[in-house]
Amino acid sequence: MAQTTLYSRAVIEKRVTELGQQISADLAGNELIALCVLKGAVFFCADLVRAMSMDVALDFIQVSSYGNQKYSSGVVTILKEPQLDMRGKAVLIVEDIIDSGLSMREVFNYIENRGATMVKTATFLDKPKSRKVAFHADYVGFTIEPQFVIGYGLDFAEKYRNIPEVQVLSE
Ligand code: PRP
Repeated sequence: MAQTTLYSRAVIEKRVTELGQQISADLAGNELIALCVLKGAVFFCADLVRAMSMDVALDFIQVSSYGNQKYSSGVVTILKEPQLDMRGKAVLIVEDIIDSGLSMREVFNYIENRGATMVKTATFLDKPKSRKVAFHADYVGFTIEPQFVIGYGLDFAEKYRNIPEVQVLSE
């Protein structure tokens, strides 16, 4: 397997800082909950909320569709539910990547019924050409081609999440 750099740590930092500032400007005045989708979004979410200039509460949800496979099984299971009361709050769902769109659609539909005044979505990476269901995120770090990427939270069979940059994994 070959690993080549797609986005360096410096490029990631710059883009995530921009996103944090943009989100703070757009959502100022709201009581905000950043809902991190475990596990892949942990690193992006941690950097994103620290780039924001407003108060933000943190919560977590975990869904799984991939198991140890490279391709989505198509069935999304909720493994961990959020804990905070979302009524009257703005919720920002934070993902590491939108690929088929199945995970984000499932999380979005689930959160929509919890009484939030507003549900927004942020994804570090977006792979629009791989969609099986239509989904448009409000905030996107980088739009990429249908290639398998690892690092900055993204795994292959649970490996590589801790690589601080984004790399393309190829045969
Ligand atoms: C990955 C990723 C997204 C989802 C994107 O999660 O973190 O949640 O797949 O793919 P999709 O758009 O095709 O649904 P995964 O289920 O592998 O869990 P993980 O975050 O723990 O790696």
